[in-house]
Amino acid sequence: YGDYNQKIDYVFKIVLIGDSAVGKSQLLARFARNEFSVESKATIGVEFQTKTLVIDNKTVKAQIWDTAGQERYRAVTSAYYRGAVGAMLVYDMTKRQSFDHMTRWLEELRGHADKNIVIMLIGNKSDLGSLRAVPTEDAEEFAQRESLFFMETSALEATNVETAFLTILTEIY
Ligand code: GTP
Ligand code: MG
Repeated sequence: YGDYNQKIDYVFKIVLIGDSAVGKSQLLARFARNEFSVESKATIGVEFQTKTLVIDNKTVKAQIWDTAGQERYRAVTSAYYRGAVGAMLVYDMTKRQSFDHMTRWLEELRGHADKNIVIMLIGNKSDLGSLRAVPTEDAEEFAQRESLFFMETSALEATNVETAFLTILTEIY
């Protein structure tokens, strides 16, 4: 089998944003290929991967874009956000600063993306629970205030990764 000759009903573009090293690329690797790398290199510019799934008997192609969290490696932002119908705002739950920066990322997102974009806040690295620096309640409160979906994930342990992407795709659909 394969993607060839498959009828695609919808193509949904989803963007990943957040500070460097929070795990954006590994969340994508886990979702798209069920892979994980400890030695993940910082993303330079923009990359994307697709995954085709069936939701409600419709074939949905998720086109997930991943960019650098590091300012100096980032590509032009408006092109990145263009046409996106979903966004994942990712922080590292063991790094308070990456959570505090969510307001800035959200501002950038809201400044460039379509106003109906579905946004999910993601607290990644839940496998490092003993190093937690962001209480779940803080994130829930922020998500509620900003009308975002929220989930804690681990790309390493594959916890909630598929659920997070499926939730966002289902909401878009
Ligand atoms: P930039 O491309 O620089 O923006 O970073 P990024 O957000 O894409 O981070 P990346 O996915 O490259 O991951 C950074 C580091 O965190 C790597 O060493 C990963 O192996 C690690 N990492 C990613 N996800 C997890 C996770 O769920 N748990 C743990 N323990 N480590 C993770
Ligand atoms: Mg990356």
